[in-house]
Amino acid sequence: MTESAELVREHDTDLGTVPQAAPTPAAELAWGRHYVAVEPSHFRIDYAINPFMDPEVQPDPALAMEQWQTMVATLRGLGATVDVLPQRADAPDMVYAMNLGLGLVRPGGERHVVMSHMRYPQRRMETGSAQEWFAASGATTSYVGRDGVGAHLEAGDAFAFGDALVVGYGPRTEELALKHLALELGVRVRGLRITHPGMYHLDLAFCPLDERRAMVCPAALDAPSARALMELVPEALVLTEEEALTTFAANSVVVGRTVVMPACPDRVRAQLEAWGFDVVIVDVSEFHLGGGSIRCLTNPVDITLGRDLPVLPRGEVVLPPLD
Ligand code: ARG
Repeated sequence: MTESAELVREHDTDLGTVPQAAPTPAAELAWGRHYVAVEPSHFRIDYAINPFMDPEVQPDPALAMEQWQTMVATLRGLGATVDVLPQRADAPDMVYAMNLGLGLVRPGGERHVVMSHMRYPQRRMETGSAQEWFAASGATTSYVGRDGVGAHLEAGDAFAFGDALVVGYGPRTEELALKHLALELGVRVRGLRITHPGMYHLDLAFCPLDERRAMVCPAALDAPSARALMELVPEALVLTEEEALTTFAANSVVVGRTVVMPACPDRVRAQLEAWGFDVVIVDVSEFHLGGGSIRCLTNPVDITLGRDLPVLPRGEVVLPPLD
């Protein structure tokens, strides 16, 4: 661990002090400029598969549509491409496009999507439609399990960072899926065990910001995985459990040096700005009723093998030790 990383971590455990300025300029993320999103024409809370959902509390459809349109316009205004899929009427959670599949670009330029295999049957029909849509848009597709057979994988658990595809597993994605991803994609997969029921996808607790930095909420993970996450991120902006759960701050997206966030605690904003990021807030509160925010609503499909992830011909899975 470098001395500067140590400083930032010390600072972050002391929530009141002045943010540390960047000791070294860090390269922007090269990915995060091309997204897929689902227009929320049928967004409802029909069932409860996470602690945020309550069918007694329904979103306002017009407000949800307006919030989603503002989010898409904001991303496009920042220069990102956003492709839009129609929502199936029988798939109220399909708006959380992040979970449709893990999109990648192979070294030769071929677009590929490893389709999710949802943990809960209520969401499984989403991926069939998404697979057809991705195939029609020119991507090849594959799967690690489907129709309830084989390993579960939900793409909101998987992000490129550092030397690996970092994959959360436990509540949704299963450990076996990590091996499939490593072998099929030829990448190193670093697994993190999620234990917090409210942070059931890694994207509620981890947001890569640039090549050295990320927002992280170690409270989502078991102790060895929390340590592994802190070791993985040279400069970590640590979110408390309360910040992650009540503001969805980790469920943000980054376009270059702009962080598009549903909300941003002052302390977090001060650190992001000290690191040279602009913070743009977009209210997507209607979607918090289903347990997802900006990252869940947008699926980056431009993570590029060989550029954003080192290629390892036979792949490799690295898991933290058991407690
Ligand atoms: N209701 C959805 C579910 O429980 C929310 C998904 C949130 N998406 C995410 N990428 N975290 O599956």
